Amino acid sequence: MSEAIRDLVQGVVDGSLSDDELTDWLRGIYNVGLTELETIALTEAMRDSGDILEWNSEISKLIVDKHSTGGVGDKVSLVLAPAMAACGLLVPMISGRGLGHTGGTLDKLESIPGLRVEMSPESIRQQVESIGVAMVGQSDTLVPADRRMYALRDVTDTVASIPLITSSIVSKKAAEGLSAMVLDVKFGRAAFMVEREQAVKLARSMVDVANGMGIRTTAVLTSMQHPLGCAIGNSLEVLESVETLCGSGPEDLEELVCVQGGLLLHATGLAEGPRAGAVMIHDSLQDGSAFERFRLMVEAQGGNVSIFDSDASLMRGLGLMDPDLNTTELSVGATGWVVDIDAMAIARVCSGLGSGRARLGDSIDRAVGAILEVQVGDYLDKGEPWIVLYHRDEVDRDTIEGLLDSITLSDEEVEAESRIEEMFD
Ligand code: URA
Repeated sequence: MSEAIRDLVQGVVDGSLSDDELTDWLRGIYNVGLTELETIALTEAMRDSGDILEWNSEISKLIVDKHSTGGVGDKVSLVLAPAMAACGLLVPMISGRGLGHTGGTLDKLESIPGLRVEMSPESIRQQVESIGVAMVGQSDTLVPADRRMYALRDVTDTVASIPLITSSIVSKKAAEGLSAMVLDVKFGRAAFMVEREQAVKLARSMVDVANGMGIRTTAVLTSMQHPLGCAIGNSLEVLESVETLCGSGPEDLEELVCVQGGLLLHATGLAEGPRAGAVMIHDSLQDGSAFERFRLMVEAQGGNVSIFDSDASLMRGLGLMDPDLNTTELSVGATGWVVDIDAMAIARVCSGLGSGRARLGDSIDRAVGAILEVQVGDYLDKGEPWIVLYHRDEVDRDTIEGLLDSITLSDEEVEAESRIEEMFD
């Protein structure tokens, strides 16, 4: 069976398999599924369809990465990758762009003037060996099979298949030559998998396949009902990431960074347990070493590091002091504890104001977005502000009224809960 799968993937890359034949094959998998062994065979064949990052045996056990299924305000990667490098791990992070309501790490990074995200596999390897971290886009030579398969899945309605999603995501991570990986699988109204049950199935499948390929993998199942942290939008999320890298970020973001980094420090033997690893990550945020790795990475990738000289230069550098940029603050019409903030509603508004793209290739406005002044569990008096929108054009009345419904207050005190619901390995 694995020989047959290898031949098919070869046909995907060399063009000997026609679009019709490939569509039939993808539809077959979509309708019938694959066994775990078949999914491993498919993922390995896809990984081997292009270049693979190779590491010498002394450092290969320290090569790690994370993948998130995407969310609103999800800037974990921007903080986690340099923090892990500061703790001794090596992180060749290949990321994607935002689409629809979900943001993308590359778009956020490109808010930093001059920063390049296109790098050859050889330059990625050199940068990771010298400073421990690179955050870049997918090159044409890594997993070319996925590019053709994903494009066809997109137009044939075969994206939502657990074995096809598993092989697509895990093959790209496996091509980085990883020893260990953490998967942040989100569920909830603003997640790729809205239903928890589907997210659990996807997490289980990715963990089993990646572990079956020799990558020590844990999945963290996290809730994506509310935005993560307070900033939504590319430049604003970089600002919040820098604050978090300097030890003063929002608690929910810091928790995900510390837990996920702790799991990888433990998996690679640099920490005695996940909890000890989480403390190491936390310390790197407090002592400045995580931020220093971030600064080195920005410099190595051509970014202008003088923006980090002061708060004002950071705001200016990220385009947040542009005179064309307007802010609108919205207040609550009642008093109470915040029980809910609808991530999907806020993401749609920000995207509509220009922060997101409907199709790959659409242009985006990096300075547009929103800052939440509150999080779930906070208490607000009537008339207090809860969100500030950053926008260029006038915000219309319907948008503002729609947003007012996206925060829910209660007379009863509520406590913020951890976003982490379950872990699988
Ligand atoms: N992201 C991917 O990279 N591949 C999928 O199939 C789905 C989401």
